[in-house]
Amino acid sequence: ERTPVTIVGAGPAGLLLSHLLAESGIESIVLDLRSRDEIEQTIRAGILEQGTVELLDGIPGSRARTVGHRHDGIELRFAGEGHRIDFPGLVGRSVWLYPQHEVLKDLIAARLAAGQDLRFGATVERVEDAGTTSPRVIGRHDDGTAFEIVSDFVVGADGSRSVVRPTVTGSSTGGYFREYPFAWFGILCEAPPSSEELIYSNSPEGFALISQRSETVQRMYFQCDPDTDVDAMSEADLWETLQARVPGTDLAEGPIFQRDVLRFRSFVAHELRHGRAALVGDAAHTVPPTGAKGMNLAIADVVLLHRALDALLRHADERALDAYAETALRRIWKAQHFSWWMTSLLHLSPEASDFDRLRQLGELRSVVESEAGQRYLAEAYTGWPLETGA
Ligand code: DHB
Repeated sequence: ERTPVTIVGAGPAGLLLSHLLAESGIESIVLDLRSRDEIEQTIRAGILEQGTVELLDGIPGSRARTVGHRHDGIELRFAGEGHRIDFPGLVGRSVWLYPQHEVLKDLIAARLAAGQDLRFGATVERVEDAGTTSPRVIGRHDDGTAFEIVSDFVVGADGSRSVVRPTVTGSSTGGYFREYPFAWFGILCEAPPSSEELIYSNSPEGFALISQRSETVQRMYFQCDPDTDVDAMSEADLWETLQARVPGTDLAEGPIFQRDVLRFRSFVAHELRHGRAALVGDAAHTVPPTGAKGMNLAIADVVLLHRALDALLRHADERALDAYAETALRRIWKAQHFSWWMTSLLHLSPEASDFDRLRQLGELRSVVESEAGQRYLAEAYTGWPLETGA
């Protein structure tokens, strides 16, 4: 079997790439080892940059603007004070709160309606011949039957445990890596919103983030030890922990129906492209969740790779592909820095001395008491412009 582009992974990156390629008249096959239900039900982040929403506007039936909510700011809270960062006032842009699994429902429905060859329960085992013009993707369907797809190009959009990555980097781990001495405890609860906008709170007890999902469902996180047992705390203890970290706000409590612990790590693969294979999204990099860059960064990669594949496959022009890694890495490292910075700005490090804690409050004041400081945060949070040139 042969197709121009094989995309491994039906997450936001893989699905959006299949859409952009189709708009260029380039066919693709999208493979994912998960079922459609599993993909549509995995709870992930919730914040879309304005540029991401504008891209999703091109997807027939996208509900990002109708079901999603525009957010014109966030609050940074520390030392018992709240400070609003006004995005439109500072940078003329906003973000949208629209959960990633809803983005995925929209994308899957739109791609299937457009006739996209999208295969669930298809596990890729390996990629061969990436150094030739006919790379092969080899794997197995859930029913046990083997498949082999020959393409002009293979894209690894298959997340942090990518099976395409070794083909590109020469090893499954090859990359720049950083770990953090904490994690996030995330909850979903049935309750009205406790705040209209997100609150990023630095407190002596540690960090907490008050986010939302809808009028009746809320998403909240608090900093915890990475080894925390997700089931060990009672609901009353969870509320007490959260409440202690957002002094000044009375949290509206309600039944907690989902809990998870999110690992914190930063990763950038040493290589993003080898021959006729390339990586996008979490297969290429991981950011810690603070600042919500993960999905947005994946989508920025896809915009670049789409342009490169359009030039390669329609005009036999390899220049954009040759520049893909270098161009993508500029934004990736800016997003790595921003995610690291938001994390270090707001979290309580278990190793922090009194000096470190007081310096951190000085850093927070340097941001909120300076228009330049606020503007840096607003620029990065709402997203740097996507590469749109020819
Ligand atoms: C959410 C997650 C984030 O990492 C963030 O910075 C903001 C919001 C969320 O899940 O709502």
